[in-house]
Amino acid sequence: MKTHIIILAAGKGLRMKSSLPKVLHKVGNLSMLEHVIKSTKFLNPSSVNVVVGKNSKLIQDSIINADLNWVVQDKQIGTADAVKIALPNIPDEDHVLILYGDTPLIDETLISQFLSEGSDSDLRVLTTTTNNPKGYGRVIRDTKKLEYISEIIEELDASEEQKNITECNTGIMYANANFFKTFTSQIENQNAKQEFYLTDIVNIANQNNKKVFGFHTHDFEKVSGINDKFQLAQAEKYFQTLQRKKLLSNGATLLDMDSIFIRGEVDIQKDVTFDANVIIEGKVIIGENVQIQSNVKLRNVVIARDTVIKSNTIVEDSEIGTNCRVGPYARIRPNSCLDSDVTVGNFVEVKSSTIGKNSKASHLSYIGDTEIGKEVNVGAGTITCNYDGVNKHKTVIKDNVFIGSDSQLVAPITIEEGVTIAAGSTITEGNYKDSLIIGRARQVVKKDWKRPK
Ligand code: UD1
Ligand code: CA
Repeated sequence: MKTHIIILAAGKGLRMKSSLPKVLHKVGNLSMLEHVIKSTKFLNPSSVNVVVGKNSKLIQDSIINADLNWVVQDKQIGTADAVKIALPNIPDEDHVLILYGDTPLIDETLISQFLSEGSDSDLRVLTTTTNNPKGYGRVIRDTKKLEYISEIIEELDASEEQKNITECNTGIMYANANFFKTFTSQIENQNAKQEFYLTDIVNIANQNNKKVFGFHTHDFEKVSGINDKFQLAQAEKYFQTLQRKKLLSNGATLLDMDSIFIRGEVDIQKDVTFDANVIIEGKVIIGENVQIQSNVKLRNVVIARDTVIKSNTIVEDSEIGTNCRVGPYARIRPNSCLDSDVTVGNFVEVKSSTIGKNSKASHLSYIGDTEIGKEVNVGAGTITCNYDGVNKHKTVIKDNVFIGSDSQLVAPITIEEGVTIAAGSTITEGNYKDSLIIGRARQVVKKDWKRPK
């Protein structure tokens, strides 16, 4: 049995008060539309049809690596019209699952449950219950057979009594393409909004003696529609709760479980601890017994076992080895790689650099485009001068080098093995092994000198 997906995403999203199309707003740093597309992967659908408005280049450009049919709805005259224009390419006997681009937290589990029941009906509708159903279409059950639905009434068209109904339409529906083709074309727009409501298909189906099965889920959060920024913020909150639970079930210790934010994926080994206010972005892999202290941001990082990332540190697109100490207040910028037992201390910035085993840069340094060997000590305030105003140049610091505090290494430069650089040096020539290099003005003392009055 072939299944096709239709995702409705053409709505203007006026209630978001934003120039960004509604479905491009993000939950957990992934656009709502991407969430919906992701949730259908397990069905291996024959086609995924996304209905968008006329100026949808931004939406189309936002999705790469997915095989989608873009269906353009010129005017947003209602959800029934949006479905209707997506149908012609789908063979009559195939099945169609309708999802909404503004309902991003639907997931594989709920979709499979929904599709597993009501197979003897003609149309299946996913419903939910909330104490605050404002804005949702209300579900009128068939009083004789409660698993069936006889009608869905939109908020604006509902009587006061109907507004008290707390069972809501999620918008998610399933039937064969022929069913949708036949009945969407009978839907009219005589209602408060003068829109072609897809929800009217329920009433029309009943009039034609078709069975409409209502599958109810208690997971309101997974099917709540996002129409404004408040609902977006609520969805983010719920999404974060799910991520935190996943992390806890994988064995993480969260010292404040409300203040870790996962905007991507995180993979952890045993005994990883996160203190308060940690932000994870992209793909982050963390080894056994790693400690992430407070106010840390990690983006696309691999951290090996026994390492401590101390407070107020940012690490991006880099690899940190075993048993390192990074921070507090360190910044590891992209393309950096720390070998094991490395210390990068406070106010040290590292960019596109590698630091070898057992080396240390403990205080106030800039290390850019640099290759540092093993057992190197980079003194406080050392700067690699990698930029001449036009090009970036490389610094190589070989094993066992000791760089005295407040030194500048003017790149391109190589500091040979075993070299000691005197504090306060500006080094422009480094090719001497096992030497002491002093590159500073000689101190002058003028005895008994007094400041002029
Ligand atoms: C819709 C349902 C309502 C349900 C709620 C669930 C209808 C008439 N109402 O209301 O019963 O409780 O969703 O969240 O279906 N869209 C288009 N083209 C259009 C209009 C809308 O593609 O012409 C898309 C929107 O981008 C959105 C979805 O359809 O993704 C739903 O539209 P929206 O305007 O948000 O409907 P609701 O008022 O939320
Ligand atoms: Ca909506």
